[in-house]
Amino acid sequence: MTTEIKVCMGSACFAKGNQENLAFIQQYIEENNLDSEIEIIGSLCENKCSDGPRIIINDTEYKNITQEKIIEILKG
Ligand code: FES
Repeated sequence: MTTEIKVCMGSACFAKGNQENLAFIQQYIEENNLDSEIEIIGSLCENKCSDGPRIIINDTEYKNITQEKIIEILKG
C-alpha cells in the first residue's frame, strides 16, 4: 500500500518546521528506497496554522510534528 504524506506548505507551517520536515522526509525516502511506497503531496494552508507544522499521513492529521515523530510513524 502506498503511504500518502501531505505536507502543509502554507507560510506558517513552512516557517514553523515543514521546510525542514519536507527535506527530511525526502531524504528518508531516498535513503530507504521508498519512492514507490511513499508519495509526498504539498498542501495549501488549511487555516489551522496554530497547529503547525501540520502533516497528514494517510488521512491522519499530525499537529506540531517533529522529525522524531515522523520517523516513528514511518517505521510503524
Ligand atoms: S500554514 Fe499550515 S495550516 Fe496554515
